[in-house]
Amino acid sequence: MAVTTPRKVINRRVRYETELVAQKKEGHPFFPYAMFHDTVVNLIIVLMIVAMTIIWHATAGPIDAHHPDGQNGWLGALYEGKANPAVQVTEPRPEWYFLFLFELLRIFKSPWELIFATIIIPTIFMVLLIVWPFIDRGRDRRISRRPVGMAFGLSVPAVLIALTIAGGIAPGAVSGSSITGDPKFDALPAAALISSHGCTSCHNFGAGGGTVGPNLSQGAPNPDPAAIKAQIENGGGGMPPFKDAFTADEIQQLVDFIVGLGTGTPPSG
Ligand code: HEC
Repeated sequence: MAVTTPRKVINRRVRYETELVAQKKEGHPFFPYAMFHDTVVNLIIVLMIVAMTIIWHATAGPIDAHHPDGQNGWLGALYEGKANPAVQVTEPRPEWYFLFLFELLRIFKSPWELIFATIIIPTIFMVLLIVWPFIDRGRDRRISRRPVGMAFGLSVPAVLIALTIAGGIAPGAVSGSSITGDPKFDALPAAALISSHGCTSCHNFGAGGGTVGPNLSQGAPNPDPAAIKAQIENGGGGMPPFKDAFTADEIQQLVDFIVGLGTGTPPSG
């Protein structure tokens, strides 16, 4: 049985063909017409990049003692902190355009599920994208007549956006991790400072850690707060100085925290 093509579609096709022939006869050579278009579009894109650079530089906050890693403006911080090779407990975070993959990795935990999330599912979508024109051979281009294709076309970005948002607000691995094994201590801001500055690569604060420096899980061997403060600020005996890495408040929090580990009572605040 012959496939009947609707009248309207034939009309549209005839119109297209006549127009194509007319355009071809009239003729627009590649140079300068197409080249002019390309030049203008490229210029606009370059100007957009320049504008974004200016906005980024103008809106980002200055790098100062309290913000050694810079401060976010409209388009991110000026510069990011130097990598600290002493930090073993790190919190891997992808760039925003990989957050959806990151979220998939969070959803699928066991190893064989991981293969699903990172290889099989993305591959299925890639293959679908390539074969879709061969599967959907409908002649009608009208959006309302292509419900399946449209549903696919809209659901993919919707899923990607949802995964990106979920990945962006996902709690970090470190904030939920344990430094001392005692939730009352782990909840203190000093615990986060300890984990982010790599103190655990040399010290054990109760939940395991390096053995380069003394075990601090019962407080410092020398419990004098002034000595603890001096050691954190100036380092020495194999420990790097941390004076520039913390604000005075943060150093005080660390001292109170370590003194608290000695007495067994978490410092207040
Ligand atoms: C590269 C390894 C290393 C890192 C990282 C490190 N320390 Fe130390 N720390 C040591 C060593 C080694 C000592 C012993 C120094 C000595 O005996 O003179 C020490 C000593 C100390 C002491 C004094 C203990 C005492 O009473 O004798 C404190 C308190 C301390 N560290 C806290 C910290 C804090 C807080 C951090 C993170 C900001 C940190 N350390 C990071 C190696 C390290």
